Amino acid sequence: MNLLITGSNGQLGSELKALESEFASLTFFYTDIDTLDITSYKLLDDYITQNKIDTIINCAAYTAVDKAEDEYKTAELVNSKSVYNLAKISEKHSLYLIHISTDYVFDGSKNTPYKETDQTNPNSNYGKTKLMGERSIKQFDINWMIIRTSWLYSSFGNNFVKTMLYLSKKNKEIKVVFDQVGSPTYAKNLAHAILQIVSQINFYPQEFIKGVYHYSNEGVCSWYDFANEIFKQKNIKCDVIPVLSNAFPTKAKRPAYSVLSKEKIKKAYNIKIPHWTAGLSECLSKII
Ligand SMILES: NC(=O)c1ccc[n+]([C@@H]2O[C@H](COP(=O)([O-])OP(=O)(O)OC[C@H]3O[C@@H](n4cnc5c(N)ncnc54)[C@H](OP(=O)(O)O)[C@@H]3O)[C@@H](O)[C@H]2O)c1
Repeated sequence: MNLLITGSNGQLGSELKALESEFASLTFFYTDIDTLDITSYKLLDDYITQNKIDTIINCAAYTAVDKAEDEYKTAELVNSKSVYNLAKISEKHSLYLIHISTDYVFDGSKNTPYKETDQTNPNSNYGKTKLMGERSIKQFDINWMIIRTSWLYSSFGNNFVKTMLYLSKKNKEIKVVFDQVGSPTYAKNLAHAILQIVSQINFYPQEFIKGVYHYSNEGVCSWYDFANEIFKQKNIKCDVIPVLSNAFPTKAKRPAYSVLSKEKIKKAYNIKIPHWTAGLSECLSKII
């Protein structure tokens, strides 16, 4: 099976790349904005034809959550209009399309884990454009999977874990919000789950079940708990001071609660999900 990974220089794309050797039955094609800009239908169509692609994992996205409040058009182009193109091309070439979405499609007003069927109501332009991307895909009669994830981090790229490690070098104490609760996701764990699903489809196409799925690591925490766990595991002496979100005003509003229920993906594809503290431990061992 020929597998195209778009946005492959990002956190998730890099983790998929790093797992290539474990999935010998798949032939990987990696692209990012410099080699395949997903905003161009023609470039996508040509690339997919030339390389006989069977499956796309779309990791390309406009992920600057606060900047998206000022750059709606760009966020919409990458997160929605381009996703429409990917779905259209998937229909033309009869491809599987695996698209990554976000917990930010929810407003965070619940206090029990969000199921795939729960009402969406994004608070931000980023969340709105990602939701529009999801809706674009659903218009097509194709083999699609939308995987929503949350609080993604990796040893590749910039993220909360790296920011905390950096800040702890310069500060004896750090203020971190405690009124946003979710589940961190080690991008390597998500990448492994996606490739497990893709190789399953490769051998047993009849086992593919299209639809929306949720994936994050197991467990629940606030950003405050997350920071404390990072310092505990790294044995770093730095006080974490719990503060309310309004201590750090941001352009985009974040959901106060965005824990995702993973029951559907676990059952459908027999996925085993590590606890977030285990994912963190593995990631920290790779960050020098
Ligand atoms: N990060 C999170 O906390 C989080 C949480 C929930 C869901 N997600 C979703 O998970 C997925 C992967 O996230 P991530 O953290 O791996 O993202 P990321 O690190 O920002 O990677 C996205 C990649 O896409 C590239 N890209 C941007 N515009 C493109 C275009 N027009 N054509 C081709 N490539 C383009 C980016 O290039 P540039 O860097 O040059 O722009 C970057 O390499 C995304 O769909 C995101 O919405 C992320």
